[in-house]
Amino acid sequence: MHPLDPIFKPQSIAVVGASRRPGSIGREVLHNLIEYDFHGKVFPVNPKADFIHSIKAFPTVTSIPDPVDVAVIVVPRDEVPAVVDDCARKGVKGLVVITSGFAETGEEGRKFEKQLVEKVNQYGMRMIGPNCMGVINADPEIRMDGTFAPALPLEGRIGFMSQSGALGVVILNMARELDIGFSYFVSMGNKANTSGNDLLLYWEDDPLTDLILMYLESIGNPVRFMQIARRITKHKPIVMVKAGRTGAGARAASSHTGALVARQGLDLATDALLDQCGVIRVNTVKELFDLALAFSKNPLPRGNRLGILTNAGGPAIMATDAAITMGLEVIKLSEGTAAGLRKLLPPEAAVSNPVDTTPKASPRTFAACARLLLEDDGIDSLLLIFVPPMMISPTDVVAGIDGVRREFSKPVLGVVMATENAFDELNQKQPGHMALYHFPEPAVYALATMERHRHWRERPVGEVRQFPAEREAARQLLEAARARGEVHLSTPDAFRLLECYGIPVARSAVAASIDELEIQAKQVRFPAVLKAIAPGLVHKTEAGGVAVDIRTLDELLTAARRMSEAVSAHAVAAEGATPSSIPTGFLLQEYMRGGREVIVGMTQDPNFGPLLMFGLGGIYVETVKDVTFRVPPLTDVDAREMIRQIRGYRLLEGVRGEPPIDFEALAVILERFSQMVGDLPQMAEVEVNPLMVFPAAADFCAVDARVRLGLPNGD
Ligand code: COA
Repeated sequence: MHPLDPIFKPQSIAVVGASRRPGSIGREVLHNLIEYDFHGKVFPVNPKADFIHSIKAFPTVTSIPDPVDVAVIVVPRDEVPAVVDDCARKGVKGLVVITSGFAETGEEGRKFEKQLVEKVNQYGMRMIGPNCMGVINADPEIRMDGTFAPALPLEGRIGFMSQSGALGVVILNMARELDIGFSYFVSMGNKANTSGNDLLLYWEDDPLTDLILMYLESIGNPVRFMQIARRITKHKPIVMVKAGRTGAGARAASSHTGALVARQGLDLATDALLDQCGVIRVNTVKELFDLALAFSKNPLPRGNRLGILTNAGGPAIMATDAAITMGLEVIKLSEGTAAGLRKLLPPEAAVSNPVDTTPKASPRTFAACARLLLEDDGIDSLLLIFVPPMMISPTDVVAGIDGVRREFSKPVLGVVMATENAFDELNQKQPGHMALYHFPEPAVYALATMERHRHWRERPVGEVRQFPAEREAARQLLEAARARGEVHLSTPDAFRLLECYGIPVARSAVAASIDELEIQAKQVRFPAVLKAIAPGLVHKTEAGGVAVDIRTLDELLTAARRMSEAVSAHAVAAEGATPSSIPTGFLLQEYMRGGREVIVGMTQDPNFGPLLMFGLGGIYVETVKDVTFRVPPLTDVDAREMIRQIRGYRLLEGVRGEPPIDFEALAVILERFSQMVGDLPQMAEVEVNPLMVFPAAADFCAVDARVRLGLPNGD
C-alpha cells in the first residue's frame, strides 16, 4: 500500500469539525462527501452534537467504533494539534487539514506549522495541507469529494493539483461547464508534508490518470521536480500554470547574462526548467483548459499535417493563419480524397484544404467528409469548424463527427461558433463529446501543443556527460582570488579557469604597463587585439577599452596610450574615478578573424541556483537579445537544443555560401561549461563573450571571459 493511499483511497473518513451550521466549511465538507456518494463510511466528529446532517456524530476520533483511514480536519487552528494526537491514538494514517492560520500568515503561523509537521512525521502519518480546500478522488470505486467546493466534479482521467484553494474552486466550476472530468483533484495548501513532487510520483503510474494539470506558485525542490517530471512527461503530459512570472525583479548584475535575466524580468529559470523536462507551461487558466480538453479527449498526433473541415470561409482562414504561425502544415489533399469530397458536396464547395462544405451541409454530409479526411494518410489531425446555420443543430453535427472520430486514432478538435446555450445543450445531449472551442485559435494552439509534446516524447532522453577536467586546480584558483579579496577574477585567471575545463581560449599575453607591452608583444602574432584590464571595468568596448586589428608594434603602442586615456576618462564620466575602474594593464591577444561570435554565460537565480545562457555574442548580445536559457546540468541533447533554439542559428549554419560552424564542438563546450558550473558553486556569474566559433573546432577560442565570485558557501 502506498503511504498516500489512506488519504486518496480511504474506506472510512472522519470529518473532524463537521459543523451543525449550514454554509460553514465543516458542514460543506460533510455534505459533499455524502452528496458525491462516497463508497465507504463517513463519521462526523463534533463534541457538541449528537448528530450532524442527519448522521450520528462522535465527540472524538477515538470514540468512533470503526477503523478510520483519513481525517479531514476543519477545526480552529489551535485545536488542530490535539485532534492530530487523537487521530494518532485511533491509528489514523492520513490527514487533510483544511484549517488555515499556518505558515501563510507569518512567523507565528510558521512555527505552528513546523510543530504540526513534526507531530505528523513523528506519528508516521501523511498530511495534505494545511490551509487547503481538500481532496477529491472521482474513481467510481471510491467517489470521495472531501472538499467544500460547491461544484461536484465529473469523473475523468485528469489529475489536478492546485496550490491555490480559491482557484481550485473556480477550476472545478469551469471544468463542469466544459465537460472536463478528473480522476483526482488535490488542493495542496501549504504543502507542509506532501509536496507537488510526492503527488506527481503518486500519479506517475496511476492507471486512472492520463494527464496531469498543476497550478503552482512555487516549485519547492526544482532538481527533484526535474528528475520526476522528465520521466513522467515521456508517457503522461503535464500542463502547468506557474504563477509568479514577474518578480525576479532587478538584481545586481554585472554581466550580460545577469542583466538579460534581470531586465526581461521574467521567470526565465522556470521556463528553462519546465522546457527541459517536457512540462507544458501555460500563462492562464484558460489556456490550461484549452489544453486539458484537447489532451484528455484525443490521442497525440503522428505529425503536423492538419486538415480543416468548415462550413464557413472566414473562420477557416483564421484557423489556417494560426496553424501556419504555430508550426502546423495545412497540406494539400490527395486527389482521391478531393474526388471523394467532390461527390459529397455541392459544386460551389471548396474541396482543397480547408474543405468548405458551404452552410448547406447536413450533419450526415459533415460526418462523411470528416471520415474521408481522417482516412487520408496525409492528414495527422482534423479541425472541424462549424458556424450553425438556422436549420442545423450543432449537437447533431458534433454527434455525427463523434460517431466517426472514434474509429481513428487521430486528434479531432471542434470549433463551434455558437452561444453558451448551444454548448449547454451539447453537454447535456452529447456527454463525452469531442473537445470543443468557441474560436479557432485556441483549438489550433492546442493541436500545435500536442504536436510539440509528441516531439518531446520522441526526443532522446540524453545524458549528462563528464569530461576530464582539472577540478582541483580550478577550485584553488578561485580560492586564491578570494583570499586576495577579488570579486572578479583577473582576465588571465578567468582564461586559466576555462582551460581547466577544456574550453579553448585565445593565445594572449598580459602586460602591466606600456613598456612591458612592448616586450610581451613578441609572444603574440599580429594582427592583434588590445584590451584594457581594469578590475571594475565591465563593458570594455563602450569604455574605449578594446582596439582590434593592430598590425604593427607602433600601432600597438599608440593604441595602448589612447586606451589608457579613454578608459580613465570613461571611468570618471561614468562613476567618478574609482581605483577599480582605472586601467591596471593590458591584455594582448591574437586577432581572430572570420569567426562568428557567441556568448556562454551563467548567472544565479534566487530560487533555482545557476541558470545557463547561450546566444549570439559580441557587441550584439544586449541589442539583439538572441539567447536561450537552461538549468544545469545539461544533457548532450539539452546542449544541442540550446544551440538550435536561438534565432541566429541560421548565421551559425552559414549564410551566402559560408560553411557551417562545428556544432558538435560548440555543444561539447556548453556541456563542459555546465560541468564547470556544477563543480564550482563559488562562482556567482560567469560569462564567456565572445566565444569565437569557426567551421574547424581547432580554431574555436574564448577571447574574453569574466568570472564573479560569490560568497564562500556558494551563495
Ligand atoms: N473536535 C471536533 N470538533 C470541533 C473541535 C474539535 N476539537 N473544536 C471545534 N469543533 C467543532 C465546533 O463545535 C464547530 O461545530 P458547530 O458549528 O456545530 O459548533 C466546528 O467544529 C467548527 O468550529 P468553529 O469554532 O465554529 O470554527 P469555524 O467553522 O468558524 O472555523 C475553520 C473553522 C477550520 C473553518 C477555520 O478555522 C479556518 O481555518 N478557516 C479557513 C479555512 C480555509 O480557508 N482554508 C483554506 C482553503 S483554500
